Amino acid sequence: MTFDILTLFPGFFLSPLNEGIIHRGIEAGLVRIRIFNLRSFTADRHRTVDDRPYGGGAGMVLKPEPIWRAVSWLNKIPGAVPRTILLTPQGRPLRQEQIKALSQYQRLLIIAGRYEGVDERIGDHLCDEQISIGDYVLSGGEIAALVLMDAIIRLIPQVMGSEASGVEESFEESLLEYPQYTRPATFRGYPVPKVLLSGDHQKIRAWRRREALIRTWKRRPDLIRREKLTPEEQVLLKKE
Ligand code: 6GU
Repeated sequence: MTFDILTLFPGFFLSPLNEGIIHRGIEAGLVRIRIFNLRSFTADRHRTVDDRPYGGGAGMVLKPEPIWRAVSWLNKIPGAVPRTILLTPQGRPLRQEQIKALSQYQRLLIIAGRYEGVDERIGDHLCDEQISIGDYVLSGGEIAALVLMDAIIRLIPQVMGSEASGVEESFEESLLEYPQYTRPATFRGYPVPKVLLSGDHQKIRAWRRREALIRTWKRRPDLIRREKLTPEEQVLLKKE
């Protein structure tokens, strides 16, 4: 899978691409990430990427020409036609289902927005979709691009290797994960729940489901789809 990133801050990507899951994907030849400096697609002497907003107001807006020129150029690289994504707090909030869908593309072209915004014509006429990674404002889309790549790359089957490929984890079934413990059985006076030491796998499974449900109900009630709960589970949550 190929990720082409268009950014004003290529340096942002240096160390994250050399660590962890992203690094592993690249080393295994399963992932290719190419970083392009938006400024090198400017055509004026001052290499201008932004300008004042029409209608007035604070801050600067990314000009459309350099982005358009960059995307046109990137689209001419032979190979798969990329799906073009604009990262902006105005985008659709990113969710795991969408990560899964995006992991099916051979090539993604990710534009990291900056400053107060990007000229609207870029989102309207150049991009396939606009994505936000959550309800808070970042200074730019670079960190969002890393979030997006990490979440996608860990879904590529061969990248995760033997580590059960993320399928059973949080959000896949739209519940938070159950609590996890490892040795020692008692740490600073805090014991591991007894059931986990019992060796009774049926009991353990039931306990985990219960804990996941209660935790999700308390922390993320928005994730619980009632129709997916058994009548017993609905009673349990009513008591919580
Ligand atoms: Cl994609 N960009 C910026 N600048 N802020 C954000 C975001 C993206 N997603 C959430 N906040």
